[in-house]
Amino acid sequence: MNIEKKHTLFLRYMAIIALIFIFIGMIILQFSSTEEKLIVLFSLTIGYIILAVMVYSIYVNYVRPIQSILTTAKELTNRNYNARIYVPSYGDAQLLGNAVNTLARHLQEISIEQKVQASEWKTVMDNMESGLMLIDERGYVHLVNRKFSEMFGYSPNDCVGYLYYNVLTDKDIHKVVKETFLYEEKMKNSITHIMNGETQYIEIVGAPVINEAKELKGSVLVFYDITKLKRVEQVRKDFVANVSHELKTPITSIKGFAETLLDEEITDKETQKQFLSIILKESSRLQSLIHDLLELSQIEKDELQLSMKWIEAEEWLTTSVSLIEQQANKKQLQFEIYLEDKLAFYGDPDLLQQVVLNLMYNAVNYTPEQGKVTLRLYRDQDYTVIEAVDTGIGIPSEALPRLFERFYRVDRARSRSTGGTGLGLAIVKHIVEAHHGHITVESELGKGSCFRVVIPDKW
Ligand SMILES: Nc1ncnc2c1ncn2[C@@H]1O[C@H](COP(=O)(O)OP(=O)(O)OP(=O)(O)O)[C@@H](O)[C@H]1O
Ligand SMILES: [Mg+2]
Repeated sequence: MNIEKKHTLFLRYMAIIALIFIFIGMIILQFSSTEEKLIVLFSLTIGYIILAVMVYSIYVNYVRPIQSILTTAKELTNRNYNARIYVPSYGDAQLLGNAVNTLARHLQEISIEQKVQASEWKTVMDNMESGLMLIDERGYVHLVNRKFSEMFGYSPNDCVGYLYYNVLTDKDIHKVVKETFLYEEKMKNSITHIMNGETQYIEIVGAPVINEAKELKGSVLVFYDITKLKRVEQVRKDFVANVSHELKTPITSIKGFAETLLDEEITDKETQKQFLSIILKESSRLQSLIHDLLELSQIEKDELQLSMKWIEAEEWLTTSVSLIEQQANKKQLQFEIYLEDKLAFYGDPDLLQQVVLNLMYNAVNYTPEQGKVTLRLYRDQDYTVIEAVDTGIGIPSEALPRLFERFYRVDRARSRSTGGTGLGLAIVKHIVEAHHGHITVESELGKGSCFRVVIPDKW
């Protein structure tokens, strides 16, 4: 309350009293003699002054504090808990003022506590790995967390205050909410949801919110993103299907020829030999398949233990080079090797040898006779680069993204005829990644391919 207002009120009171005194004075003066008039005027003036002092004192000690208390109370009802009474007062007005100030302080403390709690809750909810939605008993959304917004692309403003079925249109979600309300029990369901063009698999759990009086007050929906899990499951399923398929072919063939040899009278030595050699070839295929699978599972184990050594490239490559040379000679391929002088680097020599052999065997296998295969090893800044280049059949561009998948072969029939299992590049990729490196391919159909492995010095 400002000073002008404070005085206006006091002056107004004094003006009213003055009017009353003047009125009384005029009446008394009419009936008084001249001498008495002076005494009356004097008494009235003194009386007025005494009354003014009394009114002022009452005004300052009671009226003004109570006005201030009233203003503060109004501020408190408007949730301004900083409001306080500062006007000095006495007696009961002082007690009342103190009580209101204490009340205001308590309200302020409670409100701060509530704010802290609310922000703690918000932090917890926003950092949850699952989406969250709180619905009241009428179906209105009261709260969603950050993960929910990320999952469905709705900000809290798009959801809070709206009916849940207007926000989420999926019928399976409606079913969960309805059943949670109906049975007052936890309900589960899963949905697929497309977000930014990608399919998400989401599991929803709805739980009823029941108060102390055992009344249903709403429902909490929790959304778990199970996309990664689904993918892992799919990869596992594909893997089992692929392995079974890969094993089935040679086994069927071995069984078929063995049965034919047993059941039918094949006297012709040449045919017998032919059948037996097919059996031998197919069993070697089985053997190499199982060998590769074991190797892959070994490499895929959570943490591949690398036995890191300082590799002097020239010495390290001697065995590999002679093995590659043999293969290349068999197919009358030209084999060239480019090795940077005194090249040396850190890595697991055995595993990296597998990388070189796998890539170079592919180069040999997928290059027709008279072609050329090249192995290059050189340094590029902080990296060691291994390149396997060929002038072979090349790889169609649409096959490139899938090339490193287990069992992927561009031309199944052709690869199988070369004894390939389709696991070689998957193994290579794992080894390279265990060295924190990466592998890339450039290829042109009919012209040839270049596989480039880059291994960093530090990681
Ligand atoms: N240098 C290359 N030129 C052309 N195609 C290639 C080359 N390297 C790989 N490929 C293609 O990629 C596929 C996958 O190669 P990967 O080495 O993983 O399997 P694979 O050679 O068939 O069998 P293996 O597991 O015995 O190596 C091959 O089947 C082949 O189609
Ligand atoms: Mg291969």
